[in-house]
Amino acid sequence: MVTVTLEGRGDLTEWREAARTLLLARTEPRMIDWRCRNGAVDDLFGPAAEAPQAPNTAAASVPAVTVPKAFLSLAQAVICHSDPLRFQLLYRILFRLQRERTLLQVLSDADVAQLHAMEKSVRRDCHKMTAFVRFKEIDAEQGYARRRFLAWFEPDHHIVARAAPFFQRRFTDMDWIIATPKGTAAWDGDALTISTEPAANPMLVDSTDRLWQTYFSNIFNPARLKVKMMMTEMPKKYWKNLPEAELIPGLIAGAEASVVAMAERAASEAPLFHQRLQALARAEPDIVQASAGTLEELREEARHCTRCPLHCSATQTVFGEGPQDARIMIVGEQPGDQEDLAGRPFVGPAGAVFNTAAQEAGLDRKETYVTNAVKHFKYEPRGKRRIHQKPNVGEVQHCKWWLTRELALIKPKLVVAMGSTALMALTDSRQRLADLRGEMLQLSHGQLLLVTVHPAYLLRIPDEGRRLEEMARFRSDIARAASFGRQAMSHPAVEWRVPATGDIKPSIGVG
Ligand code: URA
Repeated sequence: MVTVTLEGRGDLTEWREAARTLLLARTEPRMIDWRCRNGAVDDLFGPAAEAPQAPNTAAASVPAVTVPKAFLSLAQAVICHSDPLRFQLLYRILFRLQRERTLLQVLSDADVAQLHAMEKSVRRDCHKMTAFVRFKEIDAEQGYARRRFLAWFEPDHHIVARAAPFFQRRFTDMDWIIATPKGTAAWDGDALTISTEPAANPMLVDSTDRLWQTYFSNIFNPARLKVKMMMTEMPKKYWKNLPEAELIPGLIAGAEASVVAMAERAASEAPLFHQRLQALARAEPDIVQASAGTLEELREEARHCTRCPLHCSATQTVFGEGPQDARIMIVGEQPGDQEDLAGRPFVGPAGAVFNTAAQEAGLDRKETYVTNAVKHFKYEPRGKRRIHQKPNVGEVQHCKWWLTRELALIKPKLVVAMGSTALMALTDSRQRLADLRGEMLQLSHGQLLLVTVHPAYLLRIPDEGRRLEEMARFRSDIARAASFGRQAMSHPAVEWRVPATGDIKPSIGVG
């Protein structure tokens, strides 16, 4: 019997070296006792009885070990699994592959099936890590040049090194540490450092916790509640590290009553409030000639806009908001029900999704100009409820008059188009949003344009798993915009580098 003792913390190299030596010596799988080094969490067998041994190799006369590429890629994932039997399984398959070259295609084979099951479990664990890591800001008062964040996560497997590049790509311009009981990943802007030493839970609480809770209660739709699906996507074992999770039992318990309350609310206040405000707005004389030199003047002119029929039924013009020297301009579609009543963009449920992503990414809404392609709420009355209607091409074209002037006055360095209506208004193009999503494009006036989905779209995705995935992509788009904004801020006179992967595409016109 040969005993092989490994660290067993997700590193394929150490297993591969031992396995190659054993294979060259034609050591039978059943003759190997694979073990994890002392005290590893998943050590079934306790400390190794024997030191690792190099078996008798007559390597020179034995052909080189070759394996299909697919095996290597599966092995890279499976080695991260916490089951101590993974070493044995991988070696057994490696051994068999020397004679059964097409073994991996036999999905009914017990070893192959187990290999795939372990790979899937590791993949799922990585996916959960990307969705459930919650960064908390640390040392905010210390005056560091870069913001610093810490997160605590409890993975099932040794996936820290495997998942860390995702965070490096997404959160590139802030310092962060992700600590876990299975090791730590740290990024300082230059280097990604991985340690396999178990870390302790720092038990941090910060104001982002409240934000996550607000966000979660906004995206929680009691009318669409499917408890079983929700528990599959957000298993209870993750709850203790998710600030929003403490709301879940209450939200589920109150779902039925919330649906009733929602229906009642929608039936009463809006129309009264709407009519009063509309009457006030109409009392002012119409201004026919737009001559605004400042944002405030432009806003005042837009208050009386009658360029298209949408003003007849909307409560008021919902103009953009934010400083005139904003470096980033966010463009949505049109105000929703709540924005129409409040007179401010992105204050309803879609706004909560945007605000959370922005805050998490360090994009300060007070320094950002937030507006819409269309400035009046378009809806269809259904009973006493006002159901959102997508603006048509003509309405978008009419309202572009305002958007073009907002762009000209603010001169943002980066414009973020959230959704296809914003994309159409900004580029006059009917290209599919999916084809441009996440791209850095260049508008003909020189500004960069980043295309992402509309946050309201995220709220409508019925499948919880897909919704989480899409949310993560949206958060990463906003993080990219924020990162760009910080670069532009620290080097206003310098040509800014576009962060991450985006190549700038050739100019496309803004009308
Ligand atoms: N959707 C938008 O596009 N804009 C808002 O202001 C609110 C919801």
